[in-house]
Parts: sequence; C-alpha cells; structure tokens
Amino acid sequence: MEDDAAAATAAAEAEEKAILSDIEQKIKCFGKDRGRLIPILQAIQEEHQYLPEGAIQMVGRHLEIPASEVYGVATFYNAFRFNPPGKHPIKVCLGTACHVRAGDIILENFERKLEIKEGQTTPDREFSIERVACVGCCALAPVALIGETVHGHMAPSKVEGLLMRIQIEKEKEERERKQDESAQ
Ligand code: FES
Repeated sequence: MEDDAAAATAAAEAEEKAILSDIEQKIKCFGKDRGRLIPILQAIQEEHQYLPEGAIQMVGRHLEIPASEVYGVATFYNAFRFNPPGKHPIKVCLGTACHVRAGDIILENFERKLEIKEGQTTPDREFSIERVACVGCCALAPVALIGETVHGHMAPSKVEGLLMRIQIEKEKEERERKQDESAQ
C-alpha cells in the first residue's frame, strides 16, 4: 500500500515536470506585455486543466512581473484551478436548489472522507473535489457528479458508498490487470 502511494507520488512529480517543460516551450510564443497574462493562464489551464505552482513563477518571469501578481490575478477568477483534477473528479452542486437541500453537508462529507478540501486533489490523484453552480437538474437536488455521472437525491450517508464502489472497481481492474500480465 505504501509502495503504491510512493509510486503514485513519483508518477505525479514526473508528470508535473513534463507539464512544466511543455509550458516553458510554449510560453515563448506569447508576447511579453502584461496584457498577455490572462491569455497565457487560459492557455495553460486549457491544455493541462490546472496551473501548477511552477507555472505561476514561470509566467511571472516571462512577463517580468512578480509571481504574487500572477497568483493574485489567477485567484481572482474562479475559472482557474491550482491542483490537477483527480481521476474521479467530484463536483458538488451548491446552486440554490441543492444548497437548500443541504448540498454543503454533502460537500463536507466528501471532504471528510477523502481528507482534502474543496479545490484540492488527493495525493494519489484519484479524487478531486470542486463546488459548482447549478448543473441543470434541480429536480434531483441535491446533486453531485463523479466524473460525468450525475448522482441525484444525494444524502450524506450515500457518500461513503459511492467512494467505496469506486475503490472496489479499482481493485477489480487491478486484479484483472495482474491476471492478464501473469497469463502472458
Ligand atoms: S441547483 Fe443544483 S442542480 Fe440546480
């Protein structure tokens, strides 16, 4: 289990290194005037789904402005995220209909079970949690999405079951993969 966690961390670090090297190449295509700040951040987010910390500093160096200014602008807009999305991104709706049906307690339950806060990703990158505005199915409120799947009429007690189902599925896939490998 610890080996799995160490492997996941090493893979995550390698992935981030590759992302930073990609950004380093592409950032050169952008002009150096300060007005390019948001387009650069948007391009990074579009390609990599988040803004790694190293990218914030890289953008600052490119535009010759402090990294704190880049970070300040990025945090001003909700569209930017600072952690990579998990393999199973969880979105908890806190639009009005879901909020009045205790959507915030559902969110808290996901945070507690996964030991991360909204906007964060688990160290193994399996899960990330985000709060979102109305996802358009208020009749099913409160609603949470895991990946593309909508889970309506959510209840705090359903959170653990949903996470467990994903874990069981993962273990099953892992077993099948190992069986395939040993059959070859
Ligand atoms: S408010 Fe949650 S789906 Fe509309």
